[in-house]
Order: sequence, then C-alpha cells, then structure tokens
Amino acid sequence: MSASRNVSTTSAAGSEYLLEAKNVKMHFPIKAGVLKRTVGHVKAVDGVDLQVRKGETLGLVGESGCGKSTLARVMMRLLEATEGEVLFEGEDILSYNRRQMLRVRRNMQIIFQDPYASLNPRMTIGNIIAEPLKTHKIVENGSGTGDGSGSRGWQKRRVQELLELVGLSPEHYNRYPHEFSGGQRQRIGVARAIALNPKLIICDEPVSALDVSIQAQVVNLLEDIQKEFDLTYIFIAHDLSVVKHISDRVAVMYLGRIVETADRTALYSEPRHPYTNSLLSAIPVPDPKKERERRRIVLTGDVPSPANPPPGCTFNPRCPRARDYCKENEPALEPQGGSQGDHRASCFFPVLEGQKVDEHVESEPYRARAGE
Ligand SMILES: Nc1ncnc2c1ncn2[C@@H]1O[C@H](COP(=O)(O)OP(=O)(O)O)[C@@H](O)[C@H]1O
Ligand code: SF4
Ligand SMILES: [Mg+2]
Repeated sequence: MSASRNVSTTSAAGSEYLLEAKNVKMHFPIKAGVLKRTVGHVKAVDGVDLQVRKGETLGLVGESGCGKSTLARVMMRLLEATEGEVLFEGEDILSYNRRQMLRVRRNMQIIFQDPYASLNPRMTIGNIIAEPLKTHKIVENGSGTGDGSGSRGWQKRRVQELLELVGLSPEHYNRYPHEFSGGQRQRIGVARAIALNPKLIICDEPVSALDVSIQAQVVNLLEDIQKEFDLTYIFIAHDLSVVKHISDRVAVMYLGRIVETADRTALYSEPRHPYTNSLLSAIPVPDPKKERERRRIVLTGDVPSPANPPPGCTFNPRCPRARDYCKENEPALEPQGGSQGDHRASCFFPVLEGQKVDEHVESEPYRARAGE
C-alpha cells in the first residue's frame, strides 16, 4: 500500500502518470525449418494500455504465461517492443538513445521472482549491491561523475547502509549468495533495486518462490521501503490474494491483454469480468460460514496458446457466460461506471451486482462508449 492514499497524479513533467503503456505489443517470432523462416508469432503482449500513478502500487495479476514478465521487461526496455509507446514521466522512452536510457534506468528498477537465479553466485553481496552504483558512476553527492574514481570507500559505506535498510547486517558485505536463505536473498535483491534511489520498482513475483511464512516479511519490507523512499510499485503476482493487501489499484491480465482494472476495493467487491470473478472465487475466505458458502468457479479448458489466440473475446472458450456474439467480436476495455473511481473491463456481458458468473444473461452486449 502506498505511503499516502492521496497520491499526486501530476508528475514532474506535467503528466498525470509516472508510467504509461499505450497499445504495447510484444510478438516473438516463431522460426522453423533450416532456413529459420518466421512461421508465426507468440503474441505474449498484445495491445496493453496501462497507467501507473506516482506513489501508488499497481497490482498486475494473471495466470502463468499470460505475459506479465514480458510486459514488465518491455516497459523497462529490457526487450524492444514490437509496437506501442511507453511513457515515463510523460516522455516516450522507446525512442530514447542509450545515453538517455541510462538516465531513465536510474529511476526504474526491477526485482525478479527468483532470488537464486538473479544474483551472480560468484560475486560477493557487497559487489552485487554496489554494481548499479558502479554502472551509473555514482559518488557521494548522489550524482554520476563520469569516472567514479575515488569513491570506493563511500560506495562500501553506502552498501552497508543499504544492507541495514533491508534488515541484513553490514557484516554480510563479503559473503556470497549461497550463504543466505531465500528470504534473505530477496532482501539483497531489494537493496540492489533501491541503491540508486529510483522512482519506480517493478516487483516481478518477488515472493512467489518463497515459503509462505517468509512471504509476508518480504512484502512488509517492500511496504516500509516504499513509505520511506516515496516509491511507486508495479507488483506482479499470479493470484489475487497476494496483491490484495499491498495494491492501491489492480490490473488483471489474460492472454497478453488487460481485461479488468479498478481500485482495489472495487476490483475485489464488484469484479465485472468473468475471469476476475473466477480468480477471486479461488481465494479461501477467513470467515468459516462464508468459506462454506464460497462457490468456486472452475475454468474449463486450457489457457489458449498466445501463438494462436481464439477469435473474438480471447476468454470465450473458457468463459461460463460466453455467447456466440463473443466469438465474433472483440470487447474493448470499457469504463464500467461503478461506484468507485476508474473501473474498466473488457467484456460484453459483465457480471453485474447480484448476478452469478455462470448465469445466462439476455442483455444487449455492453458497449459503454458506443457511438463515441
Ligand atoms: N523470448 C521469448 N520467446 C518466445 N516466447 C516467449 C519469450 N518470452 C516469453 N515467451 C512466451 O510469452 C508468453 C508470456 O510469458 P511471460 O511474460 O513469461 O508470462 P508470465 O510472466 O505472465 O508468466 C508465454 O507463452 C511464453 O512462453
Ligand atoms: S465478452 Fe463474452 S466470452 Fe468474453 S468474458 Fe465477456 S461474456 Fe465471457
Ligand atoms: Mg513471469
């Protein structure tokens, strides 16, 4: 959860958002034969519009393989998008050159899912955390100098300070990653991510590989760090229970697209998209009476391949509400006119209050912006 709920929506460059994705696509070519001809594309991200406000935590949720990590990598420019725009503080960073990108990179960091794989086993913790300081040639006053010489003593002190900030001991400086537990290694990942005082951190399933008992500690650490340094987070998870506590807003992703986005309260209390409803139905409720009444919506069929997405609404083969209309038409991410804030969903027959997700509805297809 962010430091303050009344977060500013105006960033330094005058844009309402810190980060914005506009119609972002990432299609990986599928090569075949001896000539390695392109025979198709994996549409891992297929037209994503997403806005992240300064100071908020945006939860990004969807089943494994739906394109969350690919979207994160495209927004960080670790992958070059096939199409679309990524605006950071109002400027399209996809057109930036290397030097301009280096400046942006200081402000955008990523924490990966697997703390085992993301830390170089041959480097000491001190060197791992100091790496971004060296790459960006940061010295004591926090600026890049151009050569970075004469700053080693300061860098060591800075790394030790970062170790303390994430709940580790400054004495760990000369140790190696294998000497730490999973939770401690993720703390090292957090220290490395905050070393440059970034504005945005993308947390890509930072607790999914950890024991349940450790997960809350790492989430609490991320929340504390966010308050202290006024950070903006994109927090990625594959189920809605993990992001419930930490998110201000949530975006639900399915097969390369955002299918619903809303303030946290609206998303959990008035989910409109049948996919969001089914994800929510899988979360156990603490109240035993409600837990007994909970109806689990079991999705039929496998997740379709992003190399060959179904026509129309891509959720139609698994959707309990699907009608013929859904196979022939593509729903857009439409405003839902709910009671709380900006709530959008891409569904022709959204689940309205009091309706069951698998109930047959006779309504006209919902198009909020028809005739615009
Ligand atoms: N470099 C790549 N080349 C081809 N396909 C890829 C590549 N990276 C990811 N994919 C595919 O893109 C889809 C989305 O993957 P990913 O973004 O890792 O999903 P998630 O993080 O939601 O689990 C998957 O079908 C995956 O196999
Ligand atoms: S558009 Fe149709 S198939 Fe798609 S989610 Fe809505 S009801 Fe289901
Ligand atoms: Mg992933």
